[in-house]
Amino acid sequence: MSKLLIHGGNKLFGEIAITAAKNSYLPILAACVLCEEQIVLHNYPNYTDTQSMCKILSSLGANIDFCDGDLIIDPSSLFSWGIESDLACQVRSSIFMLGALLGRFKKARVAYPGGCEIGARPIDIHLSGFKKLGVKVEEKHGYIYCNAEKMHSGTVLLEFPSVGATESLMMASVLLNGETRLLNAAKEPEIVDLQNFLVKLGAKVRGAGSGEIIIEGVKKLHGCEFTPIADRIIAGTYMIGTAMCGGNVLLKGVNPEHLRALIDKLDKTACVIEAKNDKIRVTSDGKPIALGKVETSVYPGLPTDLQAQILALSSISEGSSMIIENVFESRFKHVPELIKMGADVHVKDRVAFVRGVPHLYGASVCGMELRGTASLILAGLVAEGYTTVSNIRHVDRGYKNIELELASLGADIKRIDD
Ligand code: UD1
Repeated sequence: MSKLLIHGGNKLFGEIAITAAKNSYLPILAACVLCEEQIVLHNYPNYTDTQSMCKILSSLGANIDFCDGDLIIDPSSLFSWGIESDLACQVRSSIFMLGALLGRFKKARVAYPGGCEIGARPIDIHLSGFKKLGVKVEEKHGYIYCNAEKMHSGTVLLEFPSVGATESLMMASVLLNGETRLLNAAKEPEIVDLQNFLVKLGAKVRGAGSGEIIIEGVKKLHGCEFTPIADRIIAGTYMIGTAMCGGNVLLKGVNPEHLRALIDKLDKTACVIEAKNDKIRVTSDGKPIALGKVETSVYPGLPTDLQAQILALSSISEGSSMIIENVFESRFKHVPELIKMGADVHVKDRVAFVRGVPHLYGASVCGMELRGTASLILAGLVAEGYTTVSNIRHVDRGYKNIELELASLGADIKRIDD
């Protein structure tokens, strides 16, 4: 098992081109199942989560090739509509396959999904949406069986604007007869990206980015080429890292509007941010001021996927912060590890009270989930002395060689084997 060894204290300088968003790529990979012609997806982010999703597609019979950073998928040879538990438990996004398989085969069998341990993460909103559209759903022996022979278009009001449920229902509806309306739909940029991809395949979908998505069923989809959006969470992680370490970093290929909530929060408090076209420049003296009250929420609010990194920033900011996690109920697993490094944090239910300390100290810490592990890495970059971060398989799910990117900015960080 590899670990990261970090010697804290270096400022960050340089440029990083932000890769495609894993959270866009994963549902788009699932949506490929809906089509029977070749699809080329550019800028493949080669992380363990996307690799797991490719394995799932292959297990269903799709042919997948990699060429110059692109992924070439031929879903015409798909023969299976079932995903076994050993594959489904590797990546939570296997659940998106339900909607896509229903569109293609009118039936699906998917084992309960894996993914980060950040709460109960039920799939009731996905399933009640399917049922509302006439799908027969049965849950037994760890598998979900869906039969869509009587599936029809209609209106689904989501109880909560779940990203995954919105994506599942969009995919399940594109090949139905008639018009389906999703109300209280999620508005995240990754939903808009999925809509753009489906439209490129020949689907009729509109409204993504607002709370109402309208899908007019079409008979068949065709192949296409598509470039998914850049990863706003990776960009946000490096913005926060620069605010913590000090320095001057230019992030390229990213849409600043996707990070508006973070930019508004950090600018002039933790650092100075200039955002223009597809670039964000972060300049920091490494002496951030506390952000005060910070609440995660659905888009366009502050993403829950940046909460852990913001908490690491708050732990070395001058003053106190109150961080409220509104999206997932169990997303403070990084806190005990940050406390080992000297952070002053108290958690009560969904709220973390953080009093900034002048220094964190190097320690042996252990990653518990994807974004939490990223926050420990950022803490290691500013800590006095050496930090080792173990269990880094979590961070490899969503960041490609994070240590190489940070080292290219001047951080003293390397991967070591046990
Ligand atoms: C997606 C992202 C994840 C991000 C999250 C919120 C991907 C691959 N993952 O996850 O990185 O943190 O959006 O922006 O895109 N819920 C239910 N029942 C359901 C579905 C969700 O109760 O059927 C609850 C969840 O437990 C959670 C909240 O709704 O508390 C948000 O979940 P959701 O938006 O569905 O997140 P994911 O799609 O799992």
